[in-house]
Amino acid sequence: MPAAVFDPTARLLRACRGEPVDRPPVWLMRQAGRYLPEYRRVREGLSFLELCRDVDRAVEVSLQPLRRVGTEAVIFFSDIFVPVTGLGIEIDFQPGPVVAEPIRSLAQVERLRACDPRESVPFVFEILRRLRRELAEERVPLIGFAGAPFTLAAYLVEGRGSKEFSAIKRMMLRAPEVLRALQARLTTLVVDYLSAQIDAGAQVVQLFDTWAGLLGPEDYAEWVLPVHREIAAKLDRARAPLILYVKGSAHLLAPMFDSGADVISLDWRVDVAAAARLAGRRASLQGNLDPAFLFAPPEAIAARVRAIAAAAAPARGLVLNLGHGCLPDTPIEGVRAFTDAARALANRPA
Ligand code: CP3
Repeated sequence: MPAAVFDPTARLLRACRGEPVDRPPVWLMRQAGRYLPEYRRVREGLSFLELCRDVDRAVEVSLQPLRRVGTEAVIFFSDIFVPVTGLGIEIDFQPGPVVAEPIRSLAQVERLRACDPRESVPFVFEILRRLRRELAEERVPLIGFAGAPFTLAAYLVEGRGSKEFSAIKRMMLRAPEVLRALQARLTTLVVDYLSAQIDAGAQVVQLFDTWAGLLGPEDYAEWVLPVHREIAAKLDRARAPLILYVKGSAHLLAPMFDSGADVISLDWRVDVAAAARLAGRRASLQGNLDPAFLFAPPEAIAARVRAIAAAAAPARGLVLNLGHGCLPDTPIEGVRAFTDAARALANRPA
C-alpha cells in the first residue's frame, strides 16, 4: 500500500486526534520572538503590547518562523495576558507581566468587568482571520492559545512572575472563596476567548497552564483538574482539538490524561515512553525536547528527535515540539536542525 502523504493541516489535526499519519508534525512554543533578528527589527521602537495590538506587524511576526526555521504550524503572536486587560486589569510587560493592583480580595474579583473578548480585544481575531487567509494556499495550520485560569491567577494574585508563586498557595488555604471566584471568572473568559479564536480561524488551540506543575497531585485534583475538564467540555473540539501544556507535570500526568484534552504537551523532564504507556488511547502527546538542547550539534538534535519519536510510538499520536518555549538566545541553526529532523522521520521504517 503506498504511504499516504498529508498536507500540514491534515497531519497536525490527525496527530492530535490519534489518526494515522506519515510522520509527526513539528512546531515550537515561542517560535516567534527575540532569537530571530527579523523579530527584533519589527519590535524596535514598539512596546510588547503595542506589537500585540498592531495587526500588520503581529501577522508579520507570526509568519516569520515559517520560512526561516521550517516550522509546520503558525501560532498567532500575542501573550496569555492580552485578554485579561478586558476585565479592567492593568498589565505592563517588564518583560514579564506586572499587575498594577494584585488581586487579593473578593471585592476586587467582583469588580472585574464582564467582557466579550470580541469587543475588548478585537485585534486578536483580526490577526487570526488575516493569518488564516495567508496560510490557506499552503495549508499550514493556525494555532490559537490562552493561558489557563490557574496560571493567569498565579500572576494576578502575586502581581508578577515568581519562582514559587506563594501568594496563590496562601490564597488557596486562607481565602479559598476568593480563588474560587477568580478562577470561575477566568474560566468564563478563557472559554469565550478560545471559542472566538476558533470562530476566527484557529484550527487547534493550546491551553498554557505553565505553573500548575507547582501543585502536588491533591491540590491539582481539587483546584485545576475540574477547570481543565470544564474548558475541554465547553470547547468545540470537533472543530479544533485542544492541547494542554503544564510545565513540570511528570507527577500530574495521570489526571491530565483525564482532563478531556486531545493532546498532552510534555516538558523535557517527562519520560516519554512512560507517558505514552499511561496515555493509552486517551490523548496524543506533544513535546518534549529540552529548549536548551537546540544548542547541540545538528546530528545530536536529530538523534534526540528520533529517540522522542521512538519512545512515543505506543501513544496514539505525537506532535513534535519543545518541552517549553524557545529561549531568547536559541540558535537559529538548532531550530532548523529540529524541524529538519522531524521531516526526516518520514523516510524511516515505522
Ligand atoms: O508561542 C508563541 O510564539 C506565541 C506567543 C506567546 C508569547 N507568550 C509571546 C511573548 C505565547 C504562547 C506566550 C505564553 C505565555 N506568556 C506564557 C505561557 C507559556 C510559557 O512560556 O510559560 C506565560 C507564563 C507568559 C507570560 C510572559 N510573557 C512572560 C513570563 C514574559 C517575559 C519573559 C519571556 O519569556 O520573554 C512574557 C513576554 C513575552 N511573551 C515575550 C514574547 C515574545 C517577550 C516580549 C519581548 O519581545 O520582549
